[in-house]
Amino acid sequence: MSDFISNFWHLYVAGLALVSIIACLLLLWFSGKAKAMTAHDNTTGHVWDGDLREMNNPLPRWWVGLFIITILFAFVYLAMYPGAGSFAGKFGWTSAGQYEAEVAKANEQVAPLYAKFQAMPVEDVSKDPQAMAIGDRLFMNNCAQCHGSDARGSKGFPNLTDADWLHGGSPEKIKETLTQGRMGQMPPMAAAVGSPDDVRNVAHYVLSLSGSPHDSLRAALGKSKFGACAACHGMDGKGNPVMGAPNLTDDIWLHGWGENAIVNMINNGKINQMPAQASKLTEGQIHVLASYVWGLSNNKSAAAK
Ligand code: HEC
Ligand code: HEC
Repeated sequence: MSDFISNFWHLYVAGLALVSIIACLLLLWFSGKAKAMTAHDNTTGHVWDGDLREMNNPLPRWWVGLFIITILFAFVYLAMYPGAGSFAGKFGWTSAGQYEAEVAKANEQVAPLYAKFQAMPVEDVSKDPQAMAIGDRLFMNNCAQCHGSDARGSKGFPNLTDADWLHGGSPEKIKETLTQGRMGQMPPMAAAVGSPDDVRNVAHYVLSLSGSPHDSLRAALGKSKFGACAACHGMDGKGNPVMGAPNLTDDIWLHGWGENAIVNMINNGKINQMPAQASKLTEGQIHVLASYVWGLSNNKSAAAK
């Protein structure tokens, strides 16, 4: 893949590289040809400190030889390795390719270790100190930027240490989440609910489900409109992991608590994505990570640390 936005820059860089090398060659050639004015005693006529005279000797042969070898090396290098614009070079070497080869080699070395963990059920892996040390590092490198280094998440990014799951907390479901990613999608619902007042009423009904402070008159009015939400959140509001629809009765709020946050949710909906890891991580790594995540909410010792 070329990193240049247009062919011009490819030619510009390639041209600059080649012209510079050729210029070195010409410099050498011309300086060999040029006749410096020579005095009869083979000095240039420059004198310093009274009696230091500059001689006009030719460059030593070994030095000229090195110079030529350097120039030839530059041509050979440009032919073999990338350097002349977007010309890839005969070896097709890239830093990304070298990195990938090193990653593949490292993965091969740890393969037996992962094979051991993959043969164990998630519950057992989550109690293996070595596996959890690996899981912790994998989490820091791949997950902490979104879920936080303590895995407790933040607004929009779910807490992975509690027993509340959008998509299911069984080992299989967690593995599925990691492998193929998840797309949490709530459509804007205002039109289905009715007037802005109806929307506020439903919001108060939702607040009442978790026993959060609410206006009970509004909640009572909003209850009849909750049917629009039941397809995903369930008639009882306890959510549905198949849709990734959260439980609205547990007082755990992914997108903020209170009337405004809920009204905003109803009016605008939400698309929230957990990126798939299958192309980034190996199956073994996903197994260890799933065990790590499962352990956070299921193993007392791991959750307490
Ligand atoms: C770019 C941000 C991002 C990264 C990186 C990320 N996640 Fe997520 N993750 C999310 C979001 C956002 C959700 C919620 C998706 C939704 O709303 O349905 C999520 C959901 C999840 C869930 C499902 C939670 C539930 O309640 O069902 C698990 C498990 C999870 N992530 C684990 C991980 C692990 C392990 C990693 C590291 C390999 C990781 N995530 C990396 C953003 C991220
Ligand atoms: C098509 C399915 C669907 C429908 C219908 C739906 N929701 Fe949702 N809702 C979701 C999903 C999925 C999420 C989680 C979004 C995410 O992954 O971040 C969500 C999230 C929410 C949240 C945020 C919860 C939190 O923890 O912060 C609230 C509040 C909510 N919905 C209320 C409603 C109300 C009220 C209605 C009816 C007016 C409704 N939803 C209708 C699918 C739906």
